[in-house]
Amino acid sequence: AMEWVHCHIARTPSAPNARVEAIPAVISRIVMKLLAKTAEERYQTAAGVEHDLRRCLADWQRQGRIDDFPLDGHGTPDRLMIPEKLYGREREVETLVSTFTRIVETGTPELVLVSGYSGIGKSSVVNELHKILVPPRGLFASGKFEQYKRDIPYATLIQAFQSLVRMLLGKSEAELAAWRAALLDALSPNAALVSELIPELKLIIGEPPAVPELEPQQAK
Ligand SMILES: Nc1ncnc2c1ncn2[C@@H]1O[C@H](COP(=O)(O)OP(=O)(O)OP(=O)(O)O)[C@@H](O)[C@H]1O
Ligand SMILES: [Mg+2]
Repeated sequence: AMEWVHCHIARTPSAPNARVEAIPAVISRIVMKLLAKTAEERYQTAAGVEHDLRRCLADWQRQGRIDDFPLDGHGTPDRLMIPEKLYGREREVETLVSTFTRIVETGTPELVLVSGYSGIGKSSVVNELHKILVPPRGLFASGKFEQYKRDIPYATLIQAFQSLVRMLLGKSEAELAAWRAALLDALSPNAALVSELIPELKLIIGEPPAVPELEPQQAK
């Protein structure tokens, strides 16, 4: 399922007229425009698609072929569109992506730090990793260090691993079994402690044995 999601987000499908030559180039471009990954590259209004399709139909009925024309010339958006595109961060994204690729190839962990004022676009750069993560079966976990949550111990780590565990919950029972074994192996004897911080974990590893109460004299 994750691979389908990846195709949906990141892989451009092949154009219809690359598969069936008889399909007119304009029709093919209309289909590709409808399938564009970012909203701003797609048709801005349904009326815009209708206009272009009607023009194709009229051309076809009149002359048996469809002449090329610029698409979506009539689609004035009816609301303000905020583009999804990331501007001017090619170098930063390239650094992240090449580091990730190197880690996948060598298996040696690395740490990348991204710094900048709040709202400058750190998360947006890091989120670009989603696009290349799926083929090598990478998982993405994130948590936010918040100025006003400094008093909650481990809040950010908990958030990050919670998102990871939630992602695992969507996997098949067979895949989950492998994760269950690996998690129990890595967590024991602290499985109960960790599932107190991340309750969702119990859905994967089951109810871990309770943490033994300390004897009063040990507690001292
Ligand atoms: N290079 C960019 N091109 C287009 N939009 C951007 C760019 N950088 C940031 N933005 C937009 O600015 C907003 C803030 O970005 P983002 O959340 O990534 O910042 P941040 O540094 O992670 O902030 P915080 O420190 O609060 O976590 C987002 O809506 C994002 O879409
Ligand atoms: Mg951020």
